[in-house]
Amino acid sequence: MLLDNKVCLITGAAGARGIGLKTARLFHEHGASVVISDIDEAACEAVRQAFDPERCLVVVANVTRREECRDVVERALERFGKIDVLINNAGITQPVKFEEIDPEGYDRILDVNLRGMLYMSQAVVPHMKAAGGGAIANTSSVSAQRGGGIFGGPHYSAAKAGMLGLGKAMARELGAFGIRVNSVTPGLIDTDITAGKLTEEMKAPILEGIPLKRLGLPDDVANAFLFLASDLSSYITGATIDVNGGMHIH
Ligand SMILES: NC(=O)c1ccc[n+]([C@@H]2O[C@H](COP(=O)([O-])OP(=O)(O)OC[C@H]3O[C@@H](n4cnc5c(N)ncnc54)[C@H](O)[C@@H]3O)[C@@H](O)[C@H]2O)c1
Repeated sequence: MLLDNKVCLITGAAGARGIGLKTARLFHEHGASVVISDIDEAACEAVRQAFDPERCLVVVANVTRREECRDVVERALERFGKIDVLINNAGITQPVKFEEIDPEGYDRILDVNLRGMLYMSQAVVPHMKAAGGGAIANTSSVSAQRGGGIFGGPHYSAAKAGMLGLGKAMARELGAFGIRVNSVTPGLIDTDITAGKLTEEMKAPILEGIPLKRLGLPDDVANAFLFLASDLSSYITGATIDVNGGMHIH
């Protein structure tokens, strides 16, 4: 039990096959109370019924709206009294080429991935400071490190690279308050984010370039978050953990 008595807030955590829900389940198994937040109301409802209500709060919220982020945090504090861990995992992608990026798509991708991380972290950090510390971990992507080329567009790579920069700057500023901030950079993980647009023909050449010869599973990423959320990583901050099967070794 690595997270006994911890309260962990995870965004983008209601998707049935997603990294966020797997992470919430694993944290729950390790003794945590989990606050699951997601924009998808129907998915939230399904999750609400699947967890032990004693140690789970589900809040529908859009991370691009500052007041909704604050509301999630207020409700978590009312219910559990503290937030020890924040996993900024909400994200969307858009598989378009550079010249096809339009203003609306740019705003959407940058807002959910990067602005969402900023707003939810800003809502949580004052309470972590007051409590004497906490752990924040963010779902970036291998796309940030290798300039995409897998599924998302260049604006997705930019947003995920922005998350790495923001995370490192937060780690530098917040370390003095006992708050650790780290990032995970998943490779290609088998979830619904690709919305069925990743065909078997597209997968074959990608697998060629993965030394471990398989796509990642949400559990692979959840395990990295468990490490970063727990005291096992007590002297690690500003770090980036690759969970990519060796797809990008650098
Ligand atoms: N699957 C991959 O290959 C892969 C690789 C690298 C990084 N990632 C990142 O992992 C994270 C989780 O993605 P996933 O693959 O589990 O897919 P997913 O679609 O299951 O999870 C994303 C979740 O974010 C939620 N969401 C979307 N917009 C939101 C908003 N505005 N506010 C709150 N929640 C919102 C969705 O409803 C969904 O539940 C994302 O940040 C994604 O960019 C995924």
